[in-house]
Amino acid sequence: MLRFEAPPYADQTRIEAYDEVMEILRSPHFIQNSHKESVPVYGDVLLLTDGAVHIKRRQMISTLFSRGALQYLESEALMPPIEHLLSELAKDKNADGVVRTDLVPLVRAMLTRITALVTGVDGVDTDEKTERFRMQVALLAEASAVEWSKRPHDVVLADGVRMLDECVQEFLRPSYERRRAMAAEIKAGTRDVADGPTDLLMLLALHEGDGDFTEDYVWRECVLALVGASATTTQALPHAFMHLEDWLAEHPEDRTRVDDPEFLRRAATESLRLHLPAPALSRKAVQDVELKSGRRIAADEEVCLFFTHANLDTDKFGDDAHEYDLERELPAGTQPWGLNFGNGVHMCIGRPLVTGLTNRADPTQSTDGTMVKILRALYAHGVERDPDQQAQANQNSVEDAYASVPVIFRKL
Ligand code: HEM
Repeated sequence: MLRFEAPPYADQTRIEAYDEVMEILRSPHFIQNSHKESVPVYGDVLLLTDGAVHIKRRQMISTLFSRGALQYLESEALMPPIEHLLSELAKDKNADGVVRTDLVPLVRAMLTRITALVTGVDGVDTDEKTERFRMQVALLAEASAVEWSKRPHDVVLADGVRMLDECVQEFLRPSYERRRAMAAEIKAGTRDVADGPTDLLMLLALHEGDGDFTEDYVWRECVLALVGASATTTQALPHAFMHLEDWLAEHPEDRTRVDDPEFLRRAATESLRLHLPAPALSRKAVQDVELKSGRRIAADEEVCLFFTHANLDTDKFGDDAHEYDLERELPAGTQPWGLNFGNGVHMCIGRPLVTGLTNRADPTQSTDGTMVKILRALYAHGVERDPDQQAQANQNSVEDAYASVPVIFRKL
């Protein structure tokens, strides 16, 4: 069985049972305690605030993920780049009509536009600027998760701070200034709020006066959005693909289902259950607590929540919980991805963008989510593992991520 370690949280009380992790994440008697090292790029962002400040910011930011916004993002910011990137790849066909590429950078590229749009970054419009932006976001992602890095932490953080400065100068400040000018017109009554873009920088510009935030906070909140929108899904999608390929090799009858969004959703969520964005989350108790299990946690005690292990809990997911099984019966009330997106007040705000929103009464109002959309596009073009090259795990971090997944396309 996989057993992740958590060097930064080694001194903390280790919690692995699903119900205990869930109870702590939902409890008002614990505060956020993760990402202590990443303060230079992540300090005081939504994820790291608690109480009234957190509620206020979460209410503001959650408007970015309304059903209408999700539909727009999927159709306008995800599908066109996917189609563009695949048609560019088609130009590199070999004599056998096969295209070789690496899924990890390909997925990152597919998510660039959606990442820019959610955050409100303008000007990612030439190959050169797109490349700069992607590189900045990748290094910011590494710095935001520096506690898990196997590279010298001071170097990772210094790179992150430098990238943030460059990203502010090249992209964030000009985009924010444009939105501040729009916000001023909206406040003066000369522009309708509906005429402005729906993105994080616009929200921050509109709330500038009534918030307690500084300009540096604005940039850091953008880092959370950039990393959330790009790095987590770039990490998750290759796992889903690798598992699905194994499953299809063992269940060839399911090959006909790779254009079925429901089948792909199951494929994606089962993989999400097994591969979490970080080994553990951390929280700190604000008072003495006794959990339903009888475990006592003292005020100020720090707890390391191995949601990675919790998602393999055999009581919840069955004796074969550590296996990838697309026919798994899920316990009532349990999400197929388990605790992958956290739970409680900090539960991932971007989750519907990733897994989609279902509207059974009116399916035209449903969204598939980025993972289903990308998997479907890949399989529509005959994606397969490259038989001549092995996938490589990311050696720079203890996070469960691939650095490289070589693939071929047979139908581009
Ligand atoms: C596979 C994709 C993703 C995974 C696995 C993931 C996972 C998580 C987890 C575990 C948390 C909670 C951390 C904690 O409790 O300490 C979280 C929070 C958050 N995520 Fe995600 N996330 C994903 C995608 C996204 C996307 C697409 C966005 C935005 C576009 C996003 C934005 C956020 C934000 C802003 C928070 C903080 C919420 C709060 O503190 O209230 N995430 N995510």
